[in-house]
Amino acid sequence: MDAVRATGLTKKFGTFSAVDNVSITIPEGSIFGFLGPNGAGKTTTIRMLTGVLVPDAGSVRIFGIDVHDDPIAAKLKMGVIPENGTVYSDLSALQNILLTAKFFGMERVTREERACEILERLGLSDRQDDLVRTFSKGMRQRVSIACAIIHAPPLLILDEPTTGLDVYSRRLVIDTVRRMNREGSTVLLTTHNIEEANALCSRISVINHGTIVATESPEKLKKTFDTSRYVEISFNREVDAPLFSASCIPNAEPYGDKWRVYTDDPDRTVKSLVTLADREGLSIVSIATSNPSLEEAFVTLTAGA
Ligand SMILES: Nc1ncnc2c1ncn2[C@@H]1O[C@H](COP(=O)(O)OP(=O)(O)OP(=O)(O)O)[C@@H](O)[C@H]1O
Ligand SMILES: [Mg+2]
Repeated sequence: MDAVRATGLTKKFGTFSAVDNVSITIPEGSIFGFLGPNGAGKTTTIRMLTGVLVPDAGSVRIFGIDVHDDPIAAKLKMGVIPENGTVYSDLSALQNILLTAKFFGMERVTREERACEILERLGLSDRQDDLVRTFSKGMRQRVSIACAIIHAPPLLILDEPTTGLDVYSRRLVIDTVRRMNREGSTVLLTTHNIEEANALCSRISVINHGTIVATESPEKLKKTFDTSRYVEISFNREVDAPLFSASCIPNAEPYGDKWRVYTDDPDRTVKSLVTLADREGLSIVSIATSNPSLEEAFVTLTAGA
């Protein structure tokens, strides 16, 4: 069964269309990333998925339960870490976690055992009895995560879980996400950090201006662009294809008044082309490389519009 099945989600604020016809399907057991620049509509989508915000159109099912028809049953399936955490400053870390556990109807003994284990996992044991108001941002975020995972939710939803965290907190958060996934939780996270999405997710939806522009595995997303990796060059006079092959530069094709050399190593190709020009007494009029990293894919996909 799919952990999340959202179809045609749409939300307007006044006349402004924040999310437009967004559909996502997340198979049980996967880590799914929602990648997009600031203002893309990630948080608005998450709020609709978690039943905080009612969509203008579209529907959401969490493990088959319609969030609109049966919000409580759907919410019991989720652990949510919202964009601006929701921990109580006037309670200690431990109290926050125990309160959440109680809310989810966990038995006292289970609550205490699991709270203890999770505090340890998130590096908070030393400070568990201190008020959250005395905590740093990274520590607060970890308390927020502890609350979201206390009931071992089948679906864990994190809105920018690592933004603004130092290396240590970030590591703990990422390790926790991975471990929860290994222990059976399906994970949905949003980020504008491409490397993070790449490192964690099996599939990524790229969102921009409220619409999904691509849904792929990180590798596929990169490959789509890798296959079109090339160096483009033009010389001061006409040359023909055998000249390239004689210089061990395969995959050269005429492209307008230029040549395109497809390659998986643009650096080496550029050097070979310069050597060729040198040897043949050619002047290079223009030379350019395409540079398809995942970042490039992301920028291309989210550019313009
Ligand atoms: N309650 C609201 N009222 C009016 N406009 C809103 C509201 N919530 C969001 N928006 C607008 O909808 C758009 C999408 O916002 P959203 O918070 O979903 O973006 P985001 O992708 O989460 O961005 P970020 O990376 O900055 O968190 C933005 O232009 C925002 O100003
Ligand atoms: Mg957001």
